[in-house]
Amino acid sequence: MTRVQEKSFSGHASVSLVTGAAGFLGSHLVDRLLSKGHQVVGIDNLSTGNPENLKNALSDKKKFHFIQADVTLNPELPELKYDYIWHLASPASPVDYRRLSIETLLVNSAGTKNILDIALRHKAKFLLASTSEVYGDPLVHPQKEDYWGNVNPIGERACYDESKRFAEALTTEYRRRFGLDARIIRIFNTYGPRMRIQDGRVIPNFISQALRGEPLTVYGNGNQTRSFVYIDNEVEGIMRAMFYENTDGEVINIGNPQEYTILEVARIVAQLCRVELNIIYESLPSDDPTRRSPDLSKARALLGWKPSIPFEIGLTKTIDYFVQRKLKDQVSKK
Ligand SMILES: NC(=O)c1ccc[n+]([C@@H]2O[C@H](COP(=O)([O-])OP(=O)(O)OC[C@H]3O[C@@H](n4cnc5c(N)ncnc54)[C@H](O)[C@@H]3O)[C@@H](O)[C@H]2O)c1
Repeated sequence: MTRVQEKSFSGHASVSLVTGAAGFLGSHLVDRLLSKGHQVVGIDNLSTGNPENLKNALSDKKKFHFIQADVTLNPELPELKYDYIWHLASPASPVDYRRLSIETLLVNSAGTKNILDIALRHKAKFLLASTSEVYGDPLVHPQKEDYWGNVNPIGERACYDESKRFAEALTTEYRRRFGLDARIIRIFNTYGPRMRIQDGRVIPNFISQALRGEPLTVYGNGNQTRSFVYIDNEVEGIMRAMFYENTDGEVINIGNPQEYTILEVARIVAQLCRVELNIIYESLPSDDPTRRSPDLSKARALLGWKPSIPFEIGLTKTIDYFVQRKLKDQVSKK
C-alpha cells in the first residue's frame, strides 16, 4: 500500500473535475480537494443537489469553478488540463431515482461515456462512484467485490442498479481497450451533514420525524439490517482509492460492515434526539434488500482504510446539522 505523489500541472496545483459536485458526497469531496490545494471544477445540473452545499467552495473563486450543466449532454468545460476525474453525478436515493428514472439511466450510461471520453482526452485518472446496489438483494454475506449480485433487471430499483452496473462495465472496457487509468468504488450507505431531509433514506427520515415529534416510520418488521458509514470516513476512502498506487483497474467496497437492524437505528435516533420512541409500521417496498454489508478486506489491504467514526458520534453530528437547518428554515420563513 503506497501513497503516490499527486500529479501537478505545469508547476500548478493538481486539477480535479468532480461531477455531481453540489450533491451530498460530491460537495464534501470538493471541500476536501480544495483543502488539499487542488484546483477544482464542479459540474452539477442541480436535479438533486443544492448549491448551498458548495457555499464554502464558491467563496474560493481562484480555486473553484462551478458549471451548472447536465453531464448527459456533453457539457463544455473550462480549458484546463484535468489530472483527476471523479464521476459522482447520479440521483442516489430511491425516492430520487424513482422520480428521475430515465434521467438516472441516462446519467449512468450516456453521462458516464461523456465523462470517460474527457478522462481519455486528458489522460486523467478516473474514479467511478458505483454502489452496493450492484449486489441487489445479495445471496451471500458480507459482499466481496467478486460477488456478481442478485439484481432484478425490471424491478423498481433497476433504473439505478442496472445503470450503475452498465457504468461499471463501460469503465472497465475503457480501461481494457484504451488503457484508461480507472478505478471503481462501490459505496455503501453513507450518512452525515448535507443529506436532504426529504431524501427518503432511513437516517434523514428518522431524524426529521424525531425532531418534529412524530412517530418514526419503519417499513416491514424492522428486523432488516443496514450498515452506515459516516461521510468523512467515506470521503477519505474515496480519496485513497484515487491517490494510492495499485488501484488502477480495481473495484473496491467502501462502507461499514457493522450492521444495525432498522429498529435499532430507530431506538438510537430517538435516544440521541431525546424523544420517546414511537413507531408506525408500513409495508416493505418491493426489492428492498433484507441485508447488505461490505467485506472490506480489499479496502484494508490496498488503502489501509477502515471506518473509524462510531455511529453515535456521526449521528450526533448529523442531528446537529438537521437542527441547524430546521432553525434556519424557521428563520427564513419569518
Ligand atoms: N449517499 C450514499 O449513501 C451513496 C451510496 C452508494 C452510491 N452513492 C453514489 O455516490 C454518488 C453521489 O451520491 P449522493 O448521495 O451525493 O447523491 P446526491 O443526489 O446528493 O448527489 C448527486 C448529484 O449529482 C447531480 N446530478 C444528477 N444527475 C446529473 C446530471 N445528469 N448531470 C449533472 N449532475 C447530475 C445531482 O444534482 C446531485 O447534486 C452517486 O453516484 C451515487 O450513486 C451514494
